[in-house]
Amino acid sequence: MMHHTQLSGLSGATLQIISDCGHAIVRKKSSSEQGNPRLHRQMEKQQAFSRLDGPIKTPEILNAGTTSEGIFYFDMKFVYGLDGHRFLEQGGPAEMRAFAAKLTDHLYRIDTLPCIGKTSAYASIYDSCIYKLIEVHRQNVGLSDELAGKILGGLERVRQMNIDTQGFCHGDFTLENMIIDSKGDLFFVDFLDSAFEHPIQDFIKLSQDIHGGWFQTRGRRISASYISYLERIMDFAVEKAAPEYAPARFILQSLNFCRILPYVRDEIQRKFVIDRITQFVNQTS
Ligand SMILES: Nc1ncnc2c1ncn2[C@@H]1O[C@H](COP(=O)(O)OP(=O)(O)O)[C@@H](O)[C@H]1O
Ligand SMILES: [Mg+2]
Repeated sequence: MMHHTQLSGLSGATLQIISDCGHAIVRKKSSSEQGNPRLHRQMEKQQAFSRLDGPIKTPEILNAGTTSEGIFYFDMKFVYGLDGHRFLEQGGPAEMRAFAAKLTDHLYRIDTLPCIGKTSAYASIYDSCIYKLIEVHRQNVGLSDELAGKILGGLERVRQMNIDTQGFCHGDFTLENMIIDSKGDLFFVDFLDSAFEHPIQDFIKLSQDIHGGWFQTRGRRISASYISYLERIMDFAVEKAAPEYAPARFILQSLNFCRILPYVRDEIQRKFVIDRITQFVNQTS
């Protein structure tokens, strides 16, 4: 085996492209022993997704193990393609249409897919939201008492949704965790446990880019018409697969940006995130 380039990720896990008898494979390694269980669950979720045999693919898992230092890793096939951000930045209208059709296909039936994550730690989406809000507020990362109070009030809408049955979710459904290959096939990577497994979690997370413009902080310039096209697709999908989400979407989008707050890299990013939290909370009437 020969070691090659490192892929960039956000989780702290490392990704290396390894050449194995001329075939490129990707090794994803946990950053620490404490991170092992989560990465292990990620691998299991990826395997469970591939067993669903749907229109969206995920790289085949080839091998898994533990290093001599006790660090868990798994190997998967390398996908020759672009992540969603780069794809949307560079792709032409025809490629974009094909991508949107695949995403629509998935989102329209997301409510019919089985739960593939572990049993959630919380009894409902509402419980997980309250916990998250308190956690972020306590961390002193720039979420003011006033803003936290407004979000808390807005979460009443989430309580009224009464969502206490788990369902399918990817868990970190961002454009960066999608890969589009040269044939136009769409792959999902980087599955994650969610505090409460439910399709709405994926709608919220996808909104981070589509409605929240997160790609800008990653240095990406995506055509406004592509973004508004994806916005429409999401709206239709929500109406079809998760109509209960609509009244609570702004407050959930606001809280989603709170989740990022502890991880911002600089004051410019912090301002971007606080602006989004404020904007979405103010849209909750
Ligand atoms: N099997 C793969 N083939 C090709 N590229 C991959 C593969 N897995 C991940 N990547 C690329 O590496 C990036 C980081 O991987 P990811 O699993 O999302 O790590 P992180 O958990 O750090 O975000 C992805 O956004 C994707 O572009
Ligand atoms: Mg990722």
